[in-house]
Amino acid sequence: MTFNITKVREDFPILKREVNGKPLVYLDNGASAQKPQAVIDAVTQAYSSEYANVHRGLHYLSNLATDKYESVRSKVAKFLNSSVEDSIVFNSGTTEGINLIAYAWAMPRLQAGDEIVLSIMEHHANIIPWHFLRERMGIKLVWVDVDANGDLDPERMIAAMTESTKLVAITHLSNVLGTVVDVKTITKAAHDLGAVVLVDGSQAAVHMPIDVEDIDCDFYAITGHKLYGPSGSGAIYIKPERMAEMRPFMGGGDMIRDVGREVITYNDAPMKFEAGTPAIVQQIGLGVALDYMMDIGMENIASHEKALRDYARERLDGLNWLNIQGKSLGKAAIFSFTLNGPAHAHDISTVLDKKGIAVRAGHHCAQPLMEHLGVSSTCRASFAMYNTKGEVDKLVDGLEFCQELFG
Ligand code: ALA
Repeated sequence: MTFNITKVREDFPILKREVNGKPLVYLDNGASAQKPQAVIDAVTQAYSSEYANVHRGLHYLSNLATDKYESVRSKVAKFLNSSVEDSIVFNSGTTEGINLIAYAWAMPRLQAGDEIVLSIMEHHANIIPWHFLRERMGIKLVWVDVDANGDLDPERMIAAMTESTKLVAITHLSNVLGTVVDVKTITKAAHDLGAVVLVDGSQAAVHMPIDVEDIDCDFYAITGHKLYGPSGSGAIYIKPERMAEMRPFMGGGDMIRDVGREVITYNDAPMKFEAGTPAIVQQIGLGVALDYMMDIGMENIASHEKALRDYARERLDGLNWLNIQGKSLGKAAIFSFTLNGPAHAHDISTVLDKKGIAVRAGHHCAQPLMEHLGVSSTCRASFAMYNTKGEVDKLVDGLEFCQELFG
C-alpha cells in the first residue's frame, strides 16, 4: 500500500479540531498518540453491542468478547514478529510489563551484588523497578552514558557488562533524544555473558518495524496508547524459556486453575500472568490499532517519518538560538530543545499552545538523562505518521515568535 498522508489524516477525527482558535498541530505523540476512527468505532462497538467479561462465561456475549480479546494476542505476536502467540502477556502498558519482569523474573533469581546494566536515557518505567531491587535486595545498577550526539555506542554497554551482570535493561528508542539503540548487538553480547535482556519498546514500536526474534531479546515491552490504541492497553513479549522461569506476580481470578484452603495450582502461561478482569475493550482497540498500522505498513510509516525528521532537522538547525538535545543521525522524529536565554521550557510550551501547537515540556520521566545533559527540563516535539512538513513550519514559526518574546 502507498502512504497517503491526506487519507491518514482523515482517519484521525481529532486532527480536524481547533485549539485556542487555531488548527491543532499535535506534536506530543511521544506522550500519547491520537486514535484513528477505526479504533474509536471498535471501542464503541465493543461496549455498545459486544460487551461481557472474558474467559468466564458460557453465554454468547462472553464467548464473543473472549474471541475478540484473545484474537489480539496473535496480532501483537505478528506485530512484534514472534512466532509463538503465547509469548505475549497482556497488561496495561510498559510500566506494568517491566514491573512484572522485576517481580516475576528478576526478584526470585537475582541476589545481592548482581548487576543490572542500563543506559542513562532510560524512561523512569525502566529505572524505578530496578531501583526497587537495588533498595530491597542490594542489586547494583550500572549506568552507561550516551555520547555528545546522544548516540549509545553498543561497545560502551558491552564494556559495562561483567560476570555479575544478570540483566540488561535498555530502551530501543529514547523518548527524549529520539536515539535508536542497536539492541541486537547488545543482546548478543549480554547472552554471551549469560545475562538476559529487556527492551523497552514503548517509543520504538510506533516508528519502525519490530522483530523480537531477530533482536533475540528476552523481553520486549510495548504500550498501546502510544501505538494509536486505547490507554490502559499493552503487552510484553516474553521469550518462552524466560516465561517458564517466572513465578506469578499478581494473584487473583483467571491466573489460577484450582484454589483450595492449603493448595493452589496456576493457569498456563500467559494467563498465569494476567490476574483479574483485564482491560477487555482497550485490548480489542489495541488489536484494531495494530491492524491499522500493519495495513499502512510499518516501512511506509517509518519512511514518512524519516522525511519529516530530515525536514524538521534542517529547519530547526537553522535556528541558531535553539539548543537541540540529541543529534544522532539515525534518530526518530523526536526533537527536545531549549532556547538560549531565560525562557523556561514550560513558557515555550504555553506560548506554542496558544498557537494550537501541542508539545511536551518537563523532564519527560527521564531525570537521570536530564542530569547528564545538565538541564532540568526541555521542550519536546514528537512526530507521528499523521504529521506534515507544514506542521514543522508552524512549529518553527511558533519558536521564532517565542524567541522574539523571550530572547
Ligand atoms: N513516556 C511518555 C513521554 O515520553 C509519557 O512523554
